[in-house]
Amino acid sequence: MPQFSLTPVAVPKVSTRFRRIRTKIPVPQSVPILEEMRRYEPQSMQGMPPVVWKRGDGTIVEDWWGNRWIDWSSGVLVTNAGHGRKPIVDAVVKQAKSGLLHNYLFPHKLRGKLARMLVERAPEKMDKCFLLSTGSEAVECAIKLCRTRGRLTDPKKLIMVSFARGFHGRTLGAQQVGGIPGLKSWIGNLDPGFVQVEFPDGFRCKDTSFEFFEKKLASAGVDPRLVCGVIMESYQGGGASFAPVDYMQKLRAWCDRHGALLVCDEVQAGFGRTGKYWAFQHYNVRPDLICCGKGISSSLPVACLLGNGEVLDMYPPGSMTSTHSANPICCAAAIANLQLIDRERLVQNAKKMGDRLFAGLAKLQQQFPTRIAVVHGKGLVAGVQCVKAGGEEPDGDLAFRVVDLCCKKGLLMFAPVGFGGATVKIAPPLVISAAQLDESLAVLAEAFTEAV
Ligand SMILES: Cc1ncc(COP(=O)(O)O)c(C=O)c1O
Repeated sequence: MPQFSLTPVAVPKVSTRFRRIRTKIPVPQSVPILEEMRRYEPQSMQGMPPVVWKRGDGTIVEDWWGNRWIDWSSGVLVTNAGHGRKPIVDAVVKQAKSGLLHNYLFPHKLRGKLARMLVERAPEKMDKCFLLSTGSEAVECAIKLCRTRGRLTDPKKLIMVSFARGFHGRTLGAQQVGGIPGLKSWIGNLDPGFVQVEFPDGFRCKDTSFEFFEKKLASAGVDPRLVCGVIMESYQGGGASFAPVDYMQKLRAWCDRHGALLVCDEVQAGFGRTGKYWAFQHYNVRPDLICCGKGISSSLPVACLLGNGEVLDMYPPGSMTSTHSANPICCAAAIANLQLIDRERLVQNAKKMGDRLFAGLAKLQQQFPTRIAVVHGKGLVAGVQCVKAGGEEPDGDLAFRVVDLCCKKGLLMFAPVGFGGATVKIAPPLVISAAQLDESLAVLAEAFTEAV
């Protein structure tokens, strides 16, 4: 992927109700700050447009020099309830001022409350919630529980099935269930107990029949009786692609038939992002385990694994823990966030604004039919998949140019790197208004016109 340049460029001034660009981009005064990061951090940290954030307010992000952007990233799909929301800030400040910043697994008052609130929002029969800090941790724990449970019936029942092009985090187990070869080539000796099949997105994988899943497993020599779990992103993050409903229902039945747990990774998809509270609700299936993160707090690092006691209680006291599980400030943020999502009906807003977003993106695709192959997603997550003229070869340069141009016009977003596609990913906070959405769609169209 090309790198964002740190040379300030004069750009047309922008001044609307929501956006303001009044300096060169990057801002000349920001360059030493950006250079300090380039000097002292690994280059892997340089994937985002060179904007030094000062504060966020709902859908808007501001820098230190008076520029304002509409944010279409939600800071990588975290700020579902919006940036810097007062109820969340107040809850964090109150907890910080109470004098309790950390207490490991010694009990505090908010931990049980947050676990209860999450269980109440999960499907019936999911009665336990294990609080963690990152999505990868939740995924690692899901793998561990699937294998632990599988091996109770047969020591060889430890195969985890997952999906090509899937992403579940960057730790060892999460990368092995991930389906992006370039991200895990470093492992060298991949565990044969992790097997991937094609994700039925209808674009990169044309065959979306469930029979294809079974065929792929058979050709990989997998005995279905030895599968302990199937893990999938409820929509695949790289392109915001969903599987067919019928496929998912057959997958649910297949897992039941073979005694495998179905794990939905809702780290990106949960808490209203797709216009339903959980994205698996689009399929009318119930997973056995749900991995959560990101939008759970709209701010501080909180994650969790939801499931039933039969699975989550397999380890005795003290043996399935994490140092920062249920940190009290993080819990305070998450509780305030869950309350905000309900009170402001943000799931419903995601659906309503999502319909508007996809109508706009359909027009954009008609405008650039040879460069936008498909637009996937639901609610307030969309993947605009860019291709080289007339074919299906991903055009990463086009996606990058669009993101770069949008940044210079006051619209922030990102193009996921290393997923084997070329997607302009759209994921605004769920509080976005119709006026903000219409304005940002117009900016996107302008950027595509210039980039193409
Ligand atoms: C679907 C999915 N699962 C898991 C993760 C990992 O979460 P974290 O970065 O919090 O470890 C991500 C992060 O982008 C994700 O998108």
